[in-house]
Amino acid sequence: MMMKETQSEKNLYSEVFKLIGMFPSNFLLLDQTGVILETDRETAEKIGLKKKDLVGKKIQDMDILSSEGKTALRGQEKAEKAKMHIDIRGKEEKPLRFETSGEFFEIGARKMRLFIFKDSDPVKTLEAAFYKELVENTISAISKAVELKDPYTFGHGIRVAEIAESIGDRLELSEDKRLLLRFSGKLHDIGKLAIPVEILTKPFGTRSGLEIKLLQDHVNRSYEILKDINFPFPLAEVVYQHHERLDGSGYPRGLQGGEILIESQIVAVSDVLDAITTHRPYRVARGVKEAWQELVVDGKKKYDQKIVEIALDIIKETKKDLFKV
Ligand SMILES: [Fe+2]
Repeated sequence: MMMKETQSEKNLYSEVFKLIGMFPSNFLLLDQTGVILETDRETAEKIGLKKKDLVGKKIQDMDILSSEGKTALRGQEKAEKAKMHIDIRGKEEKPLRFETSGEFFEIGARKMRLFIFKDSDPVKTLEAAFYKELVENTISAISKAVELKDPYTFGHGIRVAEIAESIGDRLELSEDKRLLLRFSGKLHDIGKLAIPVEILTKPFGTRSGLEIKLLQDHVNRSYEILKDINFPFPLAEVVYQHHERLDGSGYPRGLQGGEILIESQIVAVSDVLDAITTHRPYRVARGVKEAWQELVVDGKKKYDQKIVEIALDIIKETKKDLFKV
């Protein structure tokens, strides 16, 4: 039986549902008992129902065609980690296939799983360029949603994305990897949506041990939110590792050296650099000297020094005013 939800949990769920609804795919968001928590209007139309009638319905009560789906839904426990699909009978002859590739993610007391509609008909597939732009715009919108919750970090996601992509460019990484860096930069702190605003906006150095732990939990939340989205690259994993450090002093898993993806190392350096060189209400922007201290002197063992060198060059070129002090 589900525990009674608090108002703030309800608000958080509706915020998460809204965000998921912004993705340019048809989807079903299910809880662990198979109840449809959220969907989009088009999916409901394909199934032949109104959205308001589809939300709240149990997937097991629908006309499911695939045995994989049926088995998986009967044995919830076993199916938690399996990649699976559900074929549902819709209005048309061809069954509607919804796929998921990850585990359930937990937000508050609820467990959820996102199923994305797989359209195998190329004629119906959106034009690649248009689709790409739509994804980019959606990702930017989500990045802004995080910053609305913590206005002190306004523009942080976009700037981290720009720095990370420029580093990727100078390291001559492939176009795919540069795109991955851009998306990871914009989404790296999406998990902060699940962190209370009072903790987010507390000045550095004034948080209690428990508050620091809660704040650090944002990386797990980011991972949970992103892992079921079928990106063609490991975006959720890159985001998951952006607070790991080469000497093993980072979190959440204390990964070391080569265990940390290069893209995560790049996002990490870009993140720290932007935080230091940007104005926050509780402290003015510190200059490049401080960045040098943090990333080169104190960070010798934590950050890849080639990445740091490139990042500092980029800041020197783009933020000349920081050198006037
Ligand atoms: Fe972060």
